[in-house]
Amino acid sequence: PVLVVDFGAQYAQLIARRVREAGVYSELVPHTVTAEEIRAKEPLGIVLSGGPSSVYEAGAPSFDDAIFELGIPVLGICYGFQVMARALGGEVGNTGDREYGATDATVVGGGGAILGGQPEQQNVWMSHGDAVQQAPEGFEVLARTAVTPVAAFGSVEKRMYGVQWHPEVKHSDHGQRILENFLHHVAGIAPDWNAGNVIAEQVAAIREQVGSARVISALSGGVDSAVSTALVHEAIGDQLTAVFVDHGLLRKGEREQVERDYVESTGVHLITVDAADTFLGHLAGVTDPEEKRKIIGREFIRSFEQVQRDLVAEAKAEGEPIKFLVQGTLYPDVVESGGGAGTANIKSHHNVGGLPDDLDFELIEPLRTLFKDEVRAIGRELGIPEAIVGRQPFPGPGLGIRIVGEVTRDRLETLREADAIARAELTAAGLDQEIWQCPVVLLADVRSVGVQGDGRTYGHPIVLRPVSSEDAMTADWTRVPYDVLARISNKITNQVPEVNRVVLDVTSKPPGTIEWE
Ligand code: XMP
Repeated sequence: PVLVVDFGAQYAQLIARRVREAGVYSELVPHTVTAEEIRAKEPLGIVLSGGPSSVYEAGAPSFDDAIFELGIPVLGICYGFQVMARALGGEVGNTGDREYGATDATVVGGGGAILGGQPEQQNVWMSHGDAVQQAPEGFEVLARTAVTPVAAFGSVEKRMYGVQWHPEVKHSDHGQRILENFLHHVAGIAPDWNAGNVIAEQVAAIREQVGSARVISALSGGVDSAVSTALVHEAIGDQLTAVFVDHGLLRKGEREQVERDYVESTGVHLITVDAADTFLGHLAGVTDPEEKRKIIGREFIRSFEQVQRDLVAEAKAEGEPIKFLVQGTLYPDVVESGGGAGTANIKSHHNVGGLPDDLDFELIEPLRTLFKDEVRAIGRELGIPEAIVGRQPFPGPGLGIRIVGEVTRDRLETLREADAIARAELTAAGLDQEIWQCPVVLLADVRSVGVQGDGRTYGHPIVLRPVSSEDAMTADWTRVPYDVLARISNKITNQVPEVNRVVLDVTSKPPGTIEWE
């Protein structure tokens, strides 16, 4: 692999993704990694990420300088560039000049292996206080800016390069080419990491792990469980049974999407559990959001356990017990819970809305090394319909936490219709990329007076909550064009009888959460 050393900035994951976009497998390692540990991983290249603004700051992240002696090609970025400069005998100083945001850089000395052949003037994305004043001996200066005399350097002999700016962000003109030049030309790595190869590798690994045993998987209708299930099916066919719990809180068309489109395109053997009556029964009279979540989570486990018992009994009778459970855990979950490749400390609740901890299965996690966009690419390669692969996040408790007030069958029907209209219009307007997700919320306990047709109405408001976000931790409300909002409003009030008002939520997160409950 290529190792991306994480100095604690938010850029390291992005760098790892960009490396993979260049067709090269990457893994993240913490900055505390030792030269010995690096050597053991036999990386083909190392990329040092950005971090705090100064290598001289108290508490600045440390780095084992012996790593530079291993003969492995290195690319330093931002803070990583300064770490490199200091360790190799260059000079890093605080001149009081800071550069933040869009900056003009000038390529000098022909640009070397990473900037060669590129325009002499480039717009690059900077974020630093200190600057490299002098390149280490044997290194050539490859770019400068108005205030930074050494904005990039490199050594052909050592196969080490660095840039002060952030090539991984889209605001840097030729950023991706810098990464590609380093990976393909400096480090000489062939670009052969792609969806097809990942599938082939995973299929072999799953067959090896599973043998002739049987496997179950919980499908939620979301991207991760859909792709991990399809991948396991690709490997072991009908040794796999997928279970889909219909809790009655799904959006319009979702069950059909799974039962018909997904099954047709993948051939997965699916069992649907019809649990709407049970769920709605337990939700009757409940208005507290956390209470709803608890009930839905608990009932989900119960439904799953019930089929599981039946399936286990059946499998035992047939002589091949069920030994494995598929989980759609992604690489960011693994990294964020402190686990590297091969460690056990993972979030086991991922994607299935809380499976019990004591399920007596071994886990199959075919997406453990992958980012979301790679999971989508693999899903497309496996032929899963775009409506599932491109799906926006949807909470496990479903529409149950989008009805403010008690959840009833009628109210769910009302919300489902309104949600379907909003989704269709946003998609038709080409806003799916810009919008992270758009909860549509029914204020079931609020009524207002309206006039529809010739009569007075006393109906409920629907809230539109379109948000833009990178990771759902923070979000901003999306500036959806007025004409799109007007179409959604007209259609909902015309077509959904219980609704006489449509309102827009213009709150960022924080202070508002994305969901209303
Ligand atoms: P909030 O509302 O906390 O949501 O800003 C952040 C992200 O998490 C989703 N969400 C949930 N997902 N079970 C889930 O599986 C839940 O109980 C739940 N609550 C919120 C929400 O849709 C958003 O993407």
